[in-house]
Order: sequence, then structure tokens, then C-alpha cells
Amino acid sequence: MPPVGSRIGILTSGGDCAGLNAVIRAAVFRAVHTYGWEVVGLRQGTLGLLKRPVDTMHLDVNMFSGSILRESGTILGTTNTGDPFAFPMPDGSKKDRSAEVIEGYRQLGLAGLIVIGGDGSFRIMDKLAKQGNIPLVGVPKTIDNDVGRTENSIGFITAVNVATEALDRLQPTAASHNRVMILEVMGRDAGHIALVSGIAGGADIILMPEIPWKLEALAGKIKRLRDEEGRNFALVVVAEGVKTPEGRSVTQADVAGKVRYGGIGHYLGDRLADAAKAETRVTVLGHVQRGGSPATTDRVLGSAFGVAAVDLLAAGKHGRMVTWQNRHVVDVPIEDTISGPGGVNVEGDLVRTARGLGICLGDQ
Ligand code: F6P
Repeated sequence: MPPVGSRIGILTSGGDCAGLNAVIRAAVFRAVHTYGWEVVGLRQGTLGLLKRPVDTMHLDVNMFSGSILRESGTILGTTNTGDPFAFPMPDGSKKDRSAEVIEGYRQLGLAGLIVIGGDGSFRIMDKLAKQGNIPLVGVPKTIDNDVGRTENSIGFITAVNVATEALDRLQPTAASHNRVMILEVMGRDAGHIALVSGIAGGADIILMPEIPWKLEALAGKIKRLRDEEGRNFALVVVAEGVKTPEGRSVTQADVAGKVRYGGIGHYLGDRLADAAKAETRVTVLGHVQRGGSPATTDRVLGSAFGVAAVDLLAAGKHGRMVTWQNRHVVDVPIEDTISGPGGVNVEGDLVRTARGLGICLGDQ
């Protein structure tokens, strides 16, 4: 175990979400109170390690006496564009700057590093850790909840709550105007937010990247609601990563040519208006799902993960990620989480629940 007086580092990487500060707070409390260690926050993910002097924030228990637990975002800042193995340079080229990141880590004299990230960040950090012999422990976060081997990632439930509340707000206006309301939620590769919020928010149709869909199935569902159940409205939830029936992702490029997901909601709105002879309106929820005060579950999970991550460093267990399984915090090799399945289990209980409720999942 690193002796009293040792320093460990912590960073957040990838897209932010609610609950990251709860992890940082818990890690600091555990490290300081239980092991007598100092905790150094690294700013902006690995970008802080590329700066000279390295961009850090001293993390003290006193910092967390106020509102930080209640706030989303990350006090450390984050990045999802600075892969040190293919770092984007001003002239448009890519450069391997991994050695500089490792050197930055060395300069801080750290006994280990906690990375709060998603599968993309873990892929990069695992490679860096192996190259630089860095004692690494991972904490899973992503609103998409698609990190393999853990039932929940930090930020997921808060995002689901936001999407569910959006459905609560859309239903009365849908019913008042006889409309089909389409809610596009995040979820690049996985439909967890769409599925869980759709069930909780009384959706009639849920589309996820894991289940291919047919327009006739959707139009048929809306027709049945109208003709057989006397319903004058419908609620549709679609994950941003859902492809068209032809298998095309709906994306948009910014002026610099960077491609982002988004647009499947409007694609669907246009086609459903025609196929179901319905008046449609589309709401794209976007980054609203990342913010807001963290849900209780994200604070509790964040606290449990923060404590457990520090305990792993104390036990000398490196290259591991803390996970939530069957109401327990357990640890698994980080590599497993990168390659393991993180999408919705199409044979799982929640898909069965949705089908049991008569929710159309697009395939029938
Ligand atoms: O991976 C999480 C996520 O929220 C995705 O659902 C979404 O596509 C992406 O991040 C958005 O990232 P950015 O913040 O770069 O727009």
C-alpha cells in the first residue's frame, strides 16, 4: 500500500454527466481520512498532463463542504477530443503525444491514478497505463450506460430522469393537440436511456440502435392506438444512434467537418407524418440530459465507486474498474469493460417489459 503522505491523481475524461463530483468527493474523503494520502486533481482529462507545468488542482476535504455534491459537470473539467495517441494539431495533422502525458504524470510523483471515464477513455488510459507502468483504476461514467460489465454508470439515471420528465411534459400537449410527439434522446450506440425513460414515461414507441425498425410497424401502432383504443396522441422515444431502415446513421457535420449524431427524430417525424397521417412534432433533448442536480442513485453510486476506487489502489489492484453488480461494488479488468457488451440486451427483462406493456419497439 502507498504509505501515508503519498499522492494519488484523479481525472475525469470524455463527456461529462451528473455525479462526477460525487466520485471525486468520495475519493478525496477516503484517501485523506482512511489512508492519509493527498489527492491531486488533473484538469481537463489528459490535456492537463500535456501542459507544463502540469495543470492540477489540489483537492482538499474542506472543498467539499458546500454545494459540489449537488452539482453536475466536473470541477476538474474534461475533454473528449484530446486522444494523446492521435492528438489533433493546429495544422490538422495527428501526433502521438502519449510520452508527454506519461512524463507529466511522472512529474507529479503520483502513486496511482483514478480515471472516471467511459469505454473510449478507458481504451486510451489502459494503453497509456501499460506504456507508462501507471497504477490505474477506472470508474465508469456515461449517460449512455454502455460501459460493459457494470449494471449502471454514473450519470445514467440522472439523464433518464430528465428524459422521463420531458415525456411527462410532452404528454399533455400531445393530447391537447392530437399529435404524435417524438423525443430524441442521447445514446450513440446504446438505447438504455430511450428504453428506461420510455417505459417510465409511458411511451408508445421506443426505438433503440439494438433493434432495427420498419416504418410500417410504427404507423401500424399509431393506427391501432387511434382506431382500437380511441387515443388521439402518441409518444415516441428514439435514441440518437438509431439508424434508418436502410442502415444509415443520421448525423450532422459542423463547419469544421466534425460529425455528430442527431437528426433521427426529425427524419422520423417527417416519415411518420406521412405514413401514419398524423401531425408530428419533434423535441431533441441533447445536452440537457447531461446536467441538473445529480439523482440520488448517481450520488450514491458515485460515492460507492469513489471509495472503492481508492481501496483498490490501497490494495495494489491495478488495471481494474469498479462496477455495480447485484447491489455490490466489484472490480473487473479494465480490458473486459472495453470489449464487453454494453448495449441493451434485446432478450433482457426490460425489453420483455416494454413488449409486455404493448410498447412498439419498431420491429413488429
Ligand atoms: O457518450 C455520451 C454522449 O452524451 C452521447 O450520447 C452523445 O452522442 C455524445 O456524448 C455527445 O458528445 P459531445 O459533448 O461531444 O456533443
